[in-house]
Amino acid sequence: MRKTVRLTAILLLLATFLVACRSTAVSESSTETESERKMITVGFSQLGAESDWRSTNTESMQTALSKENGYNLIYKNGQQKQANQITALRMFIQQDVDYIVLAPETETGWEFVLQEAQAAGIPVIIVDRRVNVDDRSLYSCWVGSDFELEGQKMAAWIYEYTKIKGIAAEDIHIAHIQGTMGSTAQLGRTRGLTNTAREYGWDIVASESGDFTEIRGKEVMASFLRKYDNINIVYCENDNEAIGAIAAIEAAGKKAGPDIANGEIMVVSFDGINQDAMQYLREGKISCIAECNPLHGPRVQTLIEMIERGETPEKFNYVTETLFSSVPEIKNIKVGDESYEVDIVK
Ligand code: AHR
Repeated sequence: MRKTVRLTAILLLLATFLVACRSTAVSESSTETESERKMITVGFSQLGAESDWRSTNTESMQTALSKENGYNLIYKNGQQKQANQITALRMFIQQDVDYIVLAPETETGWEFVLQEAQAAGIPVIIVDRRVNVDDRSLYSCWVGSDFELEGQKMAAWIYEYTKIKGIAAEDIHIAHIQGTMGSTAQLGRTRGLTNTAREYGWDIVASESGDFTEIRGKEVMASFLRKYDNINIVYCENDNEAIGAIAAIEAAGKKAGPDIANGEIMVVSFDGINQDAMQYLREGKISCIAECNPLHGPRVQTLIEMIERGETPEKFNYVTETLFSSVPEIKNIKVGDESYEVDIVK
């Protein structure tokens, strides 16, 4: 009898144990399906890898839109070709991704493929540079820099600097190394310079694209130096171009620095993410850098989360940026009525 009771007790215990195991397995697998269901698939078309800014931007996107954060990111590098980016977008549409994130190389030529994404019901977030389309409903929103303001701030810094050094407008001779033609960064930074140059009567000796790369920055500057002997300021539209331009200046036996009155060539640029450029800034080889912030990953993540919650994000989301300089005399500059602080880097 006692034996029967013990056997029944053992069987009961075993049954309870098996039920417990099963329910754990069920709840674990249901958590897994739940989290799988929550994964958001994002197709990210990056324009290329031309600069340190771009590599940092890609890393920022990959870190924010990671598996751990609930994203399945499909990354495509456009290798500086719009055709590649359009192909990538079409592939994302075929794969029926949840979101498309586009960092476009140039502004024009996006209408058709964005219409296709819209027809497929896939929201598109534009990052960094802009797209120029008549119908703005073709994309959900944009996040990036105010490139024209960056250019205006840089031109205002040059104005302040030349004023305190007593350099007359007619003695200012600027070589202008542009970014990729037709990109928002190039268009805005170029406008910022050319409008100010017109206003004060500065001479822009020559303008040519350096494609935002170090190698082209060097080539363009070397050719400018062969053609013109009066250049005293170089306005480079990013840090990689500036590093290349400085190499060309030094190869020509000249010195990059702010002492224009004594024959130095003053270099200014944009970004502030390249550590070599920041070191050049401390050494005075670059005199001023207008910040362009590449850390858009968490910003895009926030925008996706808003859309997921059924909210409508602002159409245009601007990033706040500063100016870095090692010239201690200029602590503020003015653009219109707005005053901006300059971060003095030591
Ligand atoms: O569009 C942003 C610009 O693109 C950055 O200034 C430049 O470095 C990059 O290639």
